[in-house]
Amino acid sequence: MTTLDRVLGAGIPRVDGPQKVRGTAPYAYEQDPGEPICHLAVVQSTVNRGRITRLDPTRAEAMTGVLAVLTPANAPRLSGNLSSDLPVLQSLDVHYQGQIVAAVVAESSEIAKAAVGEIAVEYAAEPPDVALSADRPDLYAPEKVMAGLDTDSVIGDVDGALAAAPVSIDVTYSTPTQHNNPIEMHVSMARWDGDSLTLWDADQGPHTIVSDLAEAFDLEPGQVRVISPYVGGAFGSKAFTHPNQIVAAMAARVVGRTVVFELTRQQMFSLVGHRTPTIQRMRLGADRDGRMTAISHEVVEHTSRISEFAEQTATATRVMYAAPHRRTTHRLARLDVPPPTIMRAPGETPGMYALESAVDELTAELGIDPVELRIRNEPERDPERDVPFSSRNLVACLRTGAERFGWAGRDLRPRQRQEGRWLIGTGVAAATYPTKRRKADCRITAYPGHYVVEIDGSDIGTGAWTALAQIAADALETDLDSVRLRIGDSALPQAGGAGGSMGTASWGSAIVLTAREVRRRLSGEPPAEGLVVDGGFDGETPAAKTHSMHSFGAHFVEVRVDADTGEVRVPRATSVYAAGRIINARTARSQFLGGFSMGVSMALHEETLTDERLGHYANHDLAEYHVATNADIGEIDISWLEEEDPLVNELGLKGIGEIGITGAAAAVGNAYWHATGLRVRDLPITPDKYFREVSRA
Ligand code: MOS
Repeated sequence: MTTLDRVLGAGIPRVDGPQKVRGTAPYAYEQDPGEPICHLAVVQSTVNRGRITRLDPTRAEAMTGVLAVLTPANAPRLSGNLSSDLPVLQSLDVHYQGQIVAAVVAESSEIAKAAVGEIAVEYAAEPPDVALSADRPDLYAPEKVMAGLDTDSVIGDVDGALAAAPVSIDVTYSTPTQHNNPIEMHVSMARWDGDSLTLWDADQGPHTIVSDLAEAFDLEPGQVRVISPYVGGAFGSKAFTHPNQIVAAMAARVVGRTVVFELTRQQMFSLVGHRTPTIQRMRLGADRDGRMTAISHEVVEHTSRISEFAEQTATATRVMYAAPHRRTTHRLARLDVPPPTIMRAPGETPGMYALESAVDELTAELGIDPVELRIRNEPERDPERDVPFSSRNLVACLRTGAERFGWAGRDLRPRQRQEGRWLIGTGVAAATYPTKRRKADCRITAYPGHYVVEIDGSDIGTGAWTALAQIAADALETDLDSVRLRIGDSALPQAGGAGGSMGTASWGSAIVLTAREVRRRLSGEPPAEGLVVDGGFDGETPAAKTHSMHSFGAHFVEVRVDADTGEVRVPRATSVYAAGRIINARTARSQFLGGFSMGVSMALHEETLTDERLGHYANHDLAEYHVATNADIGEIDISWLEEEDPLVNELGLKGIGEIGITGAAAAVGNAYWHATGLRVRDLPITPDKYFREVSRA
């Protein structure tokens, strides 16, 4: 057995598991700065647009235990180069509801929160403009969408092909605003030593936060250290700097002590971004054999007045199916909302919901099995870039999934099975996510009997502590116990954060290349004291220019709908993935399972409701913003194909954090239609919509 077989791929238990179970892994809130910690609480605007006309901190300032009240009138000035929501307390202008308008630092969080209630604020406000619609006259085309992709892509004569198609559909889907809700809220603990700032933080990548803090406080990056070895979950909101890190650092500077700011759960709904709602018009044309002739996917979504966040919702449609005539577009409305941000597979998640639901509707028109229709439309090459895929095993995922799930013999017609009150149906949808990586530095130091591997990667609960140790052990041709990994600290060699499913690919590439140099220098000798190799990976993937690189998957879902109440259950599902090499079978399964579960949550529960009159998010807590819990998730059969792809990176891995959610909501919706004969095109599929559709039918 080679080292590779022994260390890579094996379902090795999390190396940090015992610490986490015992409660000894220090999360940001639990760090010990060596002095009593002050607590911060904030006053947030109650209007969406306007200006503060009066703000009186005197009663709060007089309270015992209050150390400082920061307002736009007295807060330290930050760099003028900050944008979006980062210039905290720099102006009396209000741009979104929930904006920080004052901050209290006190000896305890109870005192800080009580003092917040003593601060009276008045505003001159304008009515909130928060309603997204596809017919707003102010929709505009951003210059690019995220990841630098084209806003529009048009190939051929789409409208002509749609008009000429023997079978076509024209349907519109919508997805609601959603909020990132990891178990651990955003937490920042700030401490200054002279002009040097230390921030213990819950984030997806310390170096990302360092650059914004250095800019804000006019420091060199070396004067800022961000430490985040353990993070209690993150889906995107922790990838970027938000007002919480800025205000914590500002407050610590003012009071000259360590200050911690932990968001409340309710503040998660205003201070750290959200997933934009979408309205997606899908038009598909096909011949009678189900070969698509035209695909049109037009997206309307929102951004805030103070930032442009252009989510790449339709871009997955550019790689999924063959069709000669194709169009994908994105239009934005600037609204009085907090800046949107990324949330697990931003773009691909809502976009694949619409595409994979529309494909299902097309199969119903044609009377063709939805697995078969997808296989008939499988492209030979990337249908828009006209380059080969580095590897593409969607068809194999569909076939394997159909086999494992027991798809054969399924009745094409809806509403054919009922057990008591339960209407039963099954549905399928495909999944995809791009494969990329970015620059990362790494340092490996040899000692007699072990190696220290240092890189500023982040474990946000995914298992990076374990997977990176496995990669290092394999590359150094040693065992896991001989690797001492250090991650989650900006004092370590620079690397990008955990995001875009690029973490393991980027950090892993850097570790492999650095380890190769270590082994070259040791030339077969055992590690000895003093060998230090600074290496890394430059961020280039030459094959990405000549090949299209994506992971793929397929979800099969059974849904039961109570014919009397509209309650929806998902008792079982099968998901099969082709995502390159799997580094750790145990933690990978958790990523796929978590992603899929979040897709079920999106299909059935998650929705932030905007009060269009008062401009606020009405259900800003976990009592009313429903997230799928264990009872909502049935038997989920997760598996993956052995896929070798030497082009994507040194390790042949494609990244697994996000693909699981893509397509999952469509699979649930498609099974819901198969169970009930009803199409709900506005997520989530709540019981009230069952009655709405029944009355329409
Ligand atoms: Mo993920 S939304 O790329 O952090």
